[in-house]
Amino acid sequence: MALTITTARSAPAAAKLVGVGVFTDDDRPDSLPKDLLDSRGFDAKLGKTMIVETKKGLVAAVGLGSVEDFTEQSLRKAGASFARAARRHKAAAISVLADAVAARKDGEAIDQEKAAECLAEGLELGCYQFETYKSTSARHDLNKVTIARSTSAPVKRGLGVGQAIASGQMLARDFVNEPGGTLTAPEFARRVTRMAKTAGLTCKVMDLAAIKRAKLGGVLGVNRGSTNQPRFVELTYSPPKAKATLAFVGKGITFDAGGLSIKSGKGMMTMKMDMGGAAAVVGAMSALKAANVPVRVRAYVPMTDNMLGGDATRPGDVLKIRNGKTIEVLNTDAEGRLILADALSVASEAKPDGIVDLATLTGACMVALGPKIAGLMSNDDDFAAKVADAAEGAGERVWRLPLPADYRSMVDSPVADMKNIGGPHGGAITAGLILQEFVGKQSKDGDPIPWVHLDIAGPAWVDSEDVENRKGGTGFGVRTLVSLARTYA
Ligand code: BES
Ligand code: MG
Ligand code: ZN
Repeated sequence: MALTITTARSAPAAAKLVGVGVFTDDDRPDSLPKDLLDSRGFDAKLGKTMIVETKKGLVAAVGLGSVEDFTEQSLRKAGASFARAARRHKAAAISVLADAVAARKDGEAIDQEKAAECLAEGLELGCYQFETYKSTSARHDLNKVTIARSTSAPVKRGLGVGQAIASGQMLARDFVNEPGGTLTAPEFARRVTRMAKTAGLTCKVMDLAAIKRAKLGGVLGVNRGSTNQPRFVELTYSPPKAKATLAFVGKGITFDAGGLSIKSGKGMMTMKMDMGGAAAVVGAMSALKAANVPVRVRAYVPMTDNMLGGDATRPGDVLKIRNGKTIEVLNTDAEGRLILADALSVASEAKPDGIVDLATLTGACMVALGPKIAGLMSNDDDFAAKVADAAEGAGERVWRLPLPADYRSMVDSPVADMKNIGGPHGGAITAGLILQEFVGKQSKDGDPIPWVHLDIAGPAWVDSEDVENRKGGTGFGVRTLVSLARTYA
């Protein structure tokens, strides 16, 4: 938690900058010099801020958009934009929540707890920086924000939960931003173990020998070209009286060189991010207790890099996955599905009520949906709708793609149960169809376990900065997973 966030009736004297919410179509806050802002051309669009000097000190006008378009989630962007504007001040205050409540007095009421949660998330994320490898730090002095004029118990609760979720998301960002040469599978597992101790989770780590004993042929096949050992990490969050169990699975390729089907230099440049799914799962797990999640959650995280040593898996090799099915590897760069096949098999053995996997799986998904929207694939319409709703409530964008049964023949193999690549088209879908083969049944002869696959190849990473994100890892998926676990009953 980078920030201390507290509440108070009014802004304390120590706050050297006070943020006031402004709508494009409402001029209520009289603490603002409207004429000055107008003359300077301030546009109260969401995400915009402007600092002006008043008799009472520095005031930041914080754009909130139009009253009609405003939702609780608007405060995430507003909070992030304010945190950036306030970075030179040690202490600041902000009244956007009270300003929004006042502006909506006659309209639809604002859920203040949810609004506070979003505001805290925005404030924290707006401060995020990854400076581990900088010899000089970019100045960011802000460490205390007072939420002015909103002091109710629900607001305080919302702020606390929002901070915990943002911490999980920033942990995920840190993991993604850490270079592949330092965040090897053993190091990743060590850091996750450390996190588990402080977050109230149990943690089990399988090393190479244990992975061999467990017959995780996909993980072993991908790891074969590497000098670093693989790991398989299981985390469990088990609150008292839990009535349901969810399973989260995350692709943990700590660096994807492509294996013998080697990537281009350019294609490899961002491939330290190929554990973005694992990072999101770990980040979400770290926040479950603080977010008072009522259900049990088990996480399964396979970790390895995808390198090309002298005995690396060759195109044409056949791997036997944990559940007994075999895959002919024709392109070693389609490695994510191989390690996820093992992880989905293991996750299924505990018969959870639903499984969600997150993976930076295919470039094809980015072709289909662009850089900011995750592909959602599923074997169950109800569970798909639950995950989509959770994503919407968390401000993360997903879009469903189909898993047509007749496309399954695209991954038929003459020598194995399937091959690991499809044809030239529909690459996100053929990857999803392969994963589906490893989702188990609820009982012998029963229906398949409800499962959702999120292909986050696009949104796990940003090349161009926006209000909520710095260049690099975004931590996409953390908020969706926490939101799902909170609402799943
Ligand atoms: N990690 C990549 C997918 C990826 C690409 C993620 C770009 C983020 C940005 C994955 O392992 C991969 O290499 N997929 C191949 C699959 C193909 C060989 C069937 C791809 O998408 O090209
Ligand atoms: Mg690859
Ligand atoms: Zn990959």
